[in-house]
Amino acid sequence: MAHSAGVSSLVRILGIETSCDETAAAVVDAGPRVRSSAIASQHELHAPFAGVVPELAGRAHVERILPVIDEALASAGVRLESIDAVAVGHRPGLIGALLVGVSAGKALAWSLGRPLIGVDHVRAHVYSAALAEAGAEPAVDPSAVLPALGLVVSGGHTTLFRVDGWAAFTRLGGTIDDALGEAFDKAAAILGLPHPGGPNVERLAATPGASDRAEEFPVSRIAPGSLDFSFSGLKTALLYAARGVPDRRGIPAPAAALTDARRADLAASFQRAAIDAVALKVGRALDAHADLRTILAGGGVLANAALRRRLAALAAERDVTLRLARPEYCGDNAAMIAGLGRELLAAGHASDLSLEAEPTATP
Ligand code: KG4
Ligand code: ZN
Repeated sequence: MAHSAGVSSLVRILGIETSCDETAAAVVDAGPRVRSSAIASQHELHAPFAGVVPELAGRAHVERILPVIDEALASAGVRLESIDAVAVGHRPGLIGALLVGVSAGKALAWSLGRPLIGVDHVRAHVYSAALAEAGAEPAVDPSAVLPALGLVVSGGHTTLFRVDGWAAFTRLGGTIDDALGEAFDKAAAILGLPHPGGPNVERLAATPGASDRAEEFPVSRIAPGSLDFSFSGLKTALLYAARGVPDRRGIPAPAAALTDARRADLAASFQRAAIDAVALKVGRALDAHADLRTILAGGGVLANAALRRRLAALAAERDVTLRLARPEYCGDNAAMIAGLGRELLAAGHASDLSLEAEPTATP
């Protein structure tokens, strides 16, 4: 049974996501119930360049967007005509990539004569924590989990929000340099691990016998009470630990031999410091916003089991409810776009055909 009555409970949304290197489409029904979530990843396309190449991403989205939308409709078992509204991730991201999804979303909304809803991708990562597995309804109505503290940890973003309503986000803090996933990817490169870095660092850190206290890497605090993040100092500390500290002429002093055991120690110590930094800022945010009794967390780095465990321990200690995005919704997907789009439409926040792709996040 749907949680809420009214017109909004009848709405079926097609979601579209093309902000970076995943072409995705999804159908989300009343409930909210994810009917389908199709994702075409471009990881292999960009792997030789060790990073996303914007022009390649844009071109690949053009080739894939219609087949991916067809796949989402087919696996949901619905016809295009039965879609009530189209939601599209329109910011932030690579401009040439976003334009593909926004153009497709506009064309579909216009040709179907249905509303168009522009959705902020980072905010949608927070919403992903409210989604149940495909076909099921969440145990708790997504509106009943608010107000909440929102945490997004991905390759492009590390952000804390206060979420008072699905159309009422307040940004509390974010990274001032690298995103958490980016820091994991750079750590992987320093340790000689292949792309994608994050899961490989996690695997190496989990080597039996690896010590997460082999190095006391810095946990950035910024200013007292700050809810911002910084990971560049941690990355540099790892680099020096692996390769030696450079002298005044830039010549590194010899570091301890980079044996397999040492690499595992460094990975474990890096991961612990990175996770400590996230836990520190989440704890500070809960101190500063004592009325928030729920944490909603999403983003690619939440695939990390050590981070999930640490957030669970923190939530238990603070006696707050923790909702982590299910693994299939941690990375970029369109179910989170359709889901948040549904809430925005219900709150009267439809867009129109003047909607633009924008590289920066909603302020
Ligand atoms: O959300 P996402 O798929 O893409 C962005 O929107 O950025 O996040 C990808 C990031 C990458 O930096 C990847 O290395 C990281 O998430 N990641 C992980 C793990 N799995 C993915 N980081 C640490 N541990 C993991 N298990
Ligand atoms: Zn993302």
